[in-house]
Amino acid sequence: MKKQALKTNLFKHYKHKAPLSPSFSKISLPKISSHHQSLKKQLTLSSQTLIDITLFFLTEINNGLHQKKSSLKMLKTHIKPSSQKKSGITLAIDWGGSNLRILKVNLDPKIINPEEIDISKKIQKKISPIEKKHPLLIFDHIAQHIRKLISQENNQTDISLGLTFSFHLNAKNASHGQIITLSKEFCETEIKGKDPHVLLQNALKKIHLSNIKIKALLNDTTGTLITKAYFNQNCDVSMILGSGTNICLLIDKMIYVTESGDFAIQQIIPRTEFDKTLDQNSENPGQQIAEKMISGAYLGELFRLIILKTLTNLPSSHLIHKKNSFHTPYLSEIEKDTSLGLKKTKQILTTLQIESTLATRIKAKKIIQLISNRSAKIAAACLAGSLKKIDPTLSQNHVVAIDGSIFEKYYKYSERMISSLNNIFKNNNKKINLVLTKNGSLLGAAIAALNQTD
Ligand code: GLC
Repeated sequence: MKKQALKTNLFKHYKHKAPLSPSFSKISLPKISSHHQSLKKQLTLSSQTLIDITLFFLTEINNGLHQKKSSLKMLKTHIKPSSQKKSGITLAIDWGGSNLRILKVNLDPKIINPEEIDISKKIQKKISPIEKKHPLLIFDHIAQHIRKLISQENNQTDISLGLTFSFHLNAKNASHGQIITLSKEFCETEIKGKDPHVLLQNALKKIHLSNIKIKALLNDTTGTLITKAYFNQNCDVSMILGSGTNICLLIDKMIYVTESGDFAIQQIIPRTEFDKTLDQNSENPGQQIAEKMISGAYLGELFRLIILKTLTNLPSSHLIHKKNSFHTPYLSEIEKDTSLGLKKTKQILTTLQIESTLATRIKAKKIIQLISNRSAKIAAACLAGSLKKIDPTLSQNHVVAIDGSIFEKYYKYSERMISSLNNIFKNNNKKINLVLTKNGSLLGAAIAALNQTD
């Protein structure tokens, strides 16, 4: 069967956007330089700060594990990593931050890396603003997509399914759990406290798909760890760096999901006025503070808020007033831009109805570098804290499986993380291998479902 590449990330949807027509009223970036010095001071993290974050993350892991007050939930999972190869066909669902992916997967015990997994059919949909407001709808949509995917098949035969549900979840067993809270700008009112297994099962029942058996319910970090560990037994930590961020780690053969997006980073580094505004305007004020400094759902918005502050006398209809009008992939493109006169940057700013001179474009680029450097440094320090928990002296090799478009696509993001890890571990980090595990969160759902099928 044909193997298909799975494409999904925040970046995909913004790549080829043409600039707006020249008829709009453009505004220019005037005072950006006067803000730069103070921003630089606030957004730059010293080596000592990285160590402070690492040690605080470690303390919070320990507090979370010992049921003491902690910003890290250390949620126990009931899904175990296994390198034991099974064969079979399963359905895998990945409900992440910006996309919904539904796959039919044929696992073959002979394959030796995730890229070889046979994906016979797939559906991929961008999650709409309505679905974010009413996430209950998503369960019905998943059921309908499954029906399309398996329309040719006999609906008497049982098909197992793994559901990657990338939010805070109290797992009851391998396939049931209770939603604690939603994040990444989803509204939680309708589904908080409910069991995603039951919600999906009911949606499937409504359209007569009772032969679909939900065997595994897991977080995307767990899925990524399961995928990598299936091929490499040195994998004991995984991380998501996409619309959201999170880390899970293996302690005494049990996977713990830290929910590191909610890490109380503000206790180590003060938030800027822009971090605070972004938080106040978000769906979940006061929560996921680290995620709001690190991940793809927020970096573009942070830049928009900074730019907005530099502009005066703006018409209220101007695009820059619109929440989330500046998407994170643009930041990466601007950082990558080395063209004469920063032409690409000019074009991107034009899409936001902003006129710029070369000097202001250079400043804009510098601000973006500050935002993304801070993100990569915090991400690396949280990872370092996790590694210190499982191996304080780094005596073993560790494969860290990482999935998500920020790690995969953001300009020089992985290099910046590696350099921060060098800084934290004083160049003794040769034993840490950060490995992009593309689609790990999704394939892990298939592997986990199959492992629960006997
Ligand atoms: C958010 C969710 C978390 C998920 C992460 C990455 O932080 O709370 O469960 O793993 O996003 O998708």
